[in-house]
Amino acid sequence: MTKYVIHGGKPLCGAVEISGAKNAAVAILPAALLVDGVCRIENIPQISDVTLILNILQELGADVRTVNRTTVDIDCSHIRNAGVPDALARKIRASYYFIGALLGRFGSAEVPPPGGCDFGGRPIDQHIKGLATMGAEVEVKGGLIRAKAKDGRLQGNTIYMDMVSVGATMNLIIAATLAQGTTVIENAAKEPHIVDLANFLNSMGASIMGAGTDVIKIKGVDHLLGGIYSIIPDQIEAGTYMAAVTATGGDVLIKNVIPKHLECITAKLMEMGAEIQELDDAVRVSRSGELYRTNVKTLPYPGFPTDMQPQVAACLCIAQGTSVLTEGVWDNRYRYVDEFRRMGAHIQVDGKIAVIEGVPQLTGATVEACDLRAGAALIIAGLAAQGSTVIGQIQHIERGYEDIVRKLSGIGADIRVVVTPDEDKAAQVG
Ligand code: EPU
Repeated sequence: MTKYVIHGGKPLCGAVEISGAKNAAVAILPAALLVDGVCRIENIPQISDVTLILNILQELGADVRTVNRTTVDIDCSHIRNAGVPDALARKIRASYYFIGALLGRFGSAEVPPPGGCDFGGRPIDQHIKGLATMGAEVEVKGGLIRAKAKDGRLQGNTIYMDMVSVGATMNLIIAATLAQGTTVIENAAKEPHIVDLANFLNSMGASIMGAGTDVIKIKGVDHLLGGIYSIIPDQIEAGTYMAAVTATGGDVLIKNVIPKHLECITAKLMEMGAEIQELDDAVRVSRSGELYRTNVKTLPYPGFPTDMQPQVAACLCIAQGTSVLTEGVWDNRYRYVDEFRRMGAHIQVDGKIAVIEGVPQLTGATVEACDLRAGAALIIAGLAAQGSTVIGQIQHIERGYEDIVRKLSGIGADIRVVVTPDEDKAAQVG
């Protein structure tokens, strides 16, 4: 078993480089399936979710060539409309983008239900409703989502989304790109990765307007041709390092970011006592004074991102005073709270609200990451805590953070990877 061991209490100082955005990459790579010809995609993060998506593409017959550490060439000329392998699809949320991509390219798709972090129910009814509005018959039966366009090709239509959904917006953009006629998505999500997906598809010949607003118009085209595209930097990875410096104190230059995408995070961390300077493609974060309480409500973009809620909670655990967190996106995103309590945090949860009473100091403990961002938050707590923290279940963290141990070590964190005997196997053998 692989774990992270952190000796906390050291301020972070230096510079760190942010990788490409996970939630953009996991949509853009399946969307490459729509392209006739080779597309070169740059600034791809090296994380396990991306590896899984590339494996699915290869299973479907794509020729995937690594150009360098962050660039791949993908040629989908010989792609087959085979089923997406169950074992791969269930490991990640983003496997649902293969429904839109296969349906768009072949007029039919068979994809197992997606996996991903457990935040309570994660329905995909808005994806299904949107595809049905474009003329697909969709059934979920026998552990498979089967979708078939009635006349072999999706038909553009106006889709009104009942709630703002990042995944459904992206899936419907992908599906509508090669549809017959024009699709309008009303009440669309506005996250930066939605704009990135639209920019990628437009650079290959699609006609998508309005991405980044709540009405997106997609004029279907017959073909996409190859090209080169570079993925945007990861807003949440950047925010995680910003929160880490806020928690530990210190002074770090966070490079390769789009400061505009970080504004809601920057504003909150400044309220808490961080000093943040926005540069062209970097932010400099420092804290030398006290850490103050604040209230945070998560909302779709441009609101405060739910994917930063656990990391900011880690900071608030050691802030002066009582803070209130309101989770506005997911039903159950406080599963990490018991792990924080092991480190001495005072948190009460009631439904979507968590009340955090700041303590002067957290203390190191043995804890487990229950999901990706919860794992990142435990790292932040461990870096700020007195003593040693051992974090298990780190595979959740490696799904979305490239090289986190090396990056944190580079800014002065005492964090290392340890491999311990597998206790379960040891118990069976013993
Ligand atoms: N929802 C529905 N029906 C749907 C779709 C969504 O009821 O068909 C509800 C969800 O239950 C939730 C809300 O709508 O309450 C928003 O869900 P959304 O569809 O926006 O989430 P998602 O697309 O499944 C993506 C990210 C998540 C991030 C959310 C919100 C990917 C692969 N995942 O999930 O990222 O939390 O958007 O921003 O892009 C992470 O990176 O750690 C992560 C969990």
